[in-house]
Amino acid sequence: MRIVDLIIKKREGGEHSREELQFIIDGYLDGSVGEEQISAWLMAVYFRGMSDQETAALTDIMQHSGDVLTYADVSDIIVDKHSTGGVGDKTTLVVAPLVAASGVPIAKLSGRGLGFTGGTLDKLESIPGLRVDISGEAFRAQLNNIGIVVAGQTANLVPADKKLYALRDITGTIESIPLIASSIMSKKLASGANKIVLDVKFGSGAFMQQPEQAKELAKAMVKIGDALNRQTVAVLSSMDQPLGYAVGNTVEVQEAIDTLEGHGPADFTELCLTLAGHMIFLGGKALSAEDGYTKAKMLLENGFALEKFYQLIKAQGGSLANGLPEAEFTASVYAARAGIVQAIDAKTIGHSSMLLGAGRETKHSIIDPTAGIILRKKVGETVEQGEVIAELHYNTPYAYRLDEAVKAVQDAYVIDEMQPKILPLILDIIE
Ligand code: URA
Repeated sequence: MRIVDLIIKKREGGEHSREELQFIIDGYLDGSVGEEQISAWLMAVYFRGMSDQETAALTDIMQHSGDVLTYADVSDIIVDKHSTGGVGDKTTLVVAPLVAASGVPIAKLSGRGLGFTGGTLDKLESIPGLRVDISGEAFRAQLNNIGIVVAGQTANLVPADKKLYALRDITGTIESIPLIASSIMSKKLASGANKIVLDVKFGSGAFMQQPEQAKELAKAMVKIGDALNRQTVAVLSSMDQPLGYAVGNTVEVQEAIDTLEGHGPADFTELCLTLAGHMIFLGGKALSAEDGYTKAKMLLENGFALEKFYQLIKAQGGSLANGLPEAEFTASVYAARAGIVQAIDAKTIGHSSMLLGAGRETKHSIIDPTAGIILRKKVGETVEQGEVIAELHYNTPYAYRLDEAVKAVQDAYVIDEMQPKILPLILDIIE
């Protein structure tokens, strides 16, 4: 086999066999295929796409390019959830305890935030003392004891994706549905999940801006799950405005606790119950996703999910005995005019939160756990001119960043007279 022939084959719209895909990925990893050749192949895939069979085979090959975790000794069923990322997305902090409280074990490997999106690990680490570097025996023991672990990735999972993603990033080939779907699913599969619920976001603060694109991605991932015998469900949810009111780290943990106490924001609570309902059903503890939803609601109301969250914090060394730390300063952002909030650009809010120190500008930036934004108005709410629309929490003495953040938050709010067209939070479910 020669790589140049495979590049030409894809360029001409041909379909690769599994052996050909294996040859390409192996060659890239062992250095026998050059970056310039993989770049050309990625661009050919970008324009020509991949069949469902090719996408599933590529995912499987990538999945096996490094360690593949299994918890078969702990439980036959491991349900995982993946969100394509957004602003104010603290769903794992609520969904994982909800599902674990139903008796379905959760072994979750989460990530850190970069740019305008936050990461679950950063949010968890904002709880005093909490550790996310749990691996091997300790991970299994915690899963056995309390049925829930949320940790960082220590194993060498899917090295092929790390290399390919970095190359896609600099060759204009990120936005390819089969490449995104295989990238996400290979990591989920390698991390030991056999049932997967995907939260695929669309909107201004999402990776996929248009609902149609997000739906296409969701379908591609569900098909991969089917082809590789992992039951997969995708929930299409809106990221046209931040989820809930809090964006940051400690502020999002507080909102997650409020939600587990039963008084969280309506949109966020609804999404968490929907995701948890599907996970509880896939985990075999409910007769249907609707039944799972009802069970999840009960676990919220009776405090069992909150109790599970506290168990998780304690097991990972965290303590809320002195509450969550808070930022030293707050600044208000005021409505420039009276009217109804038409839109709140989620990406701009995420970016502003990063300017305050809550997110990373580069991989090496240090996070300020207490910095963040609390929205005081959401889409559809009426505001008076000069009314507070958001509150910024910060410690940084760099005033120019605060000014920049205040301006960005004000710009993120679109206020007008008309009644805004509000898309449903959950647009579709792909099973
Ligand atoms: N997230 C991933 O993990 N992979 C992609 O290709 C895009 C988003």
